[in-house]
Amino acid sequence: MTDTSAKYVAAIDQGTTSSRCIIFDQHGAIVAVDQREHRQIFPKPGWVEHDATEIWSKVQAVVAGALAGAGLRAGQLSALGITNQRETTVLWDRSTGRPVHNAIVWQDTRTSALCAELGGADGQDRFRDTTGLPLASYFSGPKAAWLLDHVPGLRGRAERGEIAFGTIDSWLIWNLTGGTDGGVHVTDVTNASRTMLMNLESLRWDASVLSAMNIPEAVLPEIRSSAEVYGTAVGQLDGVPVASALGDQQAAVFGQACYDTGTAKNTYGTGSFLLLNTGGRPVPSKNGLITTLGYKIGDADPVYCLEGSIAITGALVQWFRDQLGIIRTADEIETLAASVEDNGGAYIVPAFSGLYAPYWRSDARGVMTGLTRYVTKAHLARAVLEATSWQTREVVDAMYQDSGVTITTLKVDGGMTANGLLMQHQADVLGVPVIRPKVSETTCLGAAYAAGLATGVWGGLDELKAHWRRDAEWSPRMPADVREREYDNWRRAVERSFGWQK
Ligand code: G3P
Repeated sequence: MTDTSAKYVAAIDQGTTSSRCIIFDQHGAIVAVDQREHRQIFPKPGWVEHDATEIWSKVQAVVAGALAGAGLRAGQLSALGITNQRETTVLWDRSTGRPVHNAIVWQDTRTSALCAELGGADGQDRFRDTTGLPLASYFSGPKAAWLLDHVPGLRGRAERGEIAFGTIDSWLIWNLTGGTDGGVHVTDVTNASRTMLMNLESLRWDASVLSAMNIPEAVLPEIRSSAEVYGTAVGQLDGVPVASALGDQQAAVFGQACYDTGTAKNTYGTGSFLLLNTGGRPVPSKNGLITTLGYKIGDADPVYCLEGSIAITGALVQWFRDQLGIIRTADEIETLAASVEDNGGAYIVPAFSGLYAPYWRSDARGVMTGLTRYVTKAHLARAVLEATSWQTREVVDAMYQDSGVTITTLKVDGGMTANGLLMQHQADVLGVPVIRPKVSETTCLGAAYAAGLATGVWGGLDELKAHWRRDAEWSPRMPADVREREYDNWRRAVERSFGWQK
């Protein structure tokens, strides 16, 4: 039986491979969870698409599942928060509510040539001062420009105001609040900061970038804070205030209670994303990181982060399972990897979408190096896991160079933190303790916290901080000379991935 005087907040996490709805109680404890996967569409090498209509149906299904699991009616929810895979781009027809094309997923590399062209003589950093981002196929603006140029007749319709652009938060909020029947077209500052179209200081769409990318302002949502009531849901969540939106990595920052300048977290999902709270001012990166919004709670000042974005970590385990068929379930990789002492000399650099931080090389492609006849599938399983911790080491080093902040412990979350072997290796290669919180669903928790703050469920950040509890900790054990020798091997392997894609 659920307590009728208790308060509940629901969060939807629309991720790269699945959608999830979690209902939390007022102590930040999980009451119910439901999750469903959606199709990954790979039309050509390097292209990745999602069907936004399928995503919306899966979201509705997981909301129904979580409500049923909790034994709650929609009317018992105080608020709903949204968190989402970032950068993935949807354009839809405002009058029919139908997407004009599959969504182009953040990992998709089709805009690499367009990005090089946009950079021109100024190169990759042409918009970095304004947007905090290097020109790379990862971000949404060039994806929207590609759609406007490639879907017949779309540009004219967009200029006439008939088309809406959104990252997945906008698409969901529009649908949740009524769609063609009065849905609100908004995004929050964190998601907007991933489009490469928002000015980091003014938190508004930047006219000069829009003009350079030839994107009509008429398609864009209104930029709002990360925690405020954007509108009221209709349909299955009728009457529930839709009260937060944060990109999934920023939601994890919020859920991990990284509210103080200098605190950091790393989330291990399809990719891994390490964010360091840098406080009220954007810190420019000179070492291959990006400058991004952390969160903005209502009228309070925005908080900025430096981010090390790694495109492929968990997705490499999926590839090992689905494309190579070496394991049957993702969990099996830990047992297989633990059956050998080390990687047998093998390294795998998963540059499937080029390499993101700290290199931003769209010409990189995946490589395996160090192979001999000695190497078995168990050594490769180790190399798969180690690719995650070495890539994280590279962004931690860049973080230090950019900010001068030494990360003395790393808060971690996400699916791969269930893998103790990986977490131990992560602590070993960073040389600092790695700590996992009790609620490892920090993405949904962060969205729920923000929605609960906006609707008075929680009073402030100190109250949220008090919820945070340690679950597990791994301390470094690897001798420093071994660590540095292996890091050198890793970097030599990375160099071999460069320049493969002509
Ligand atoms: O920037 C991409 C990121 O938001 C994707 O996160 O957890 O869906 O892999 P995830």
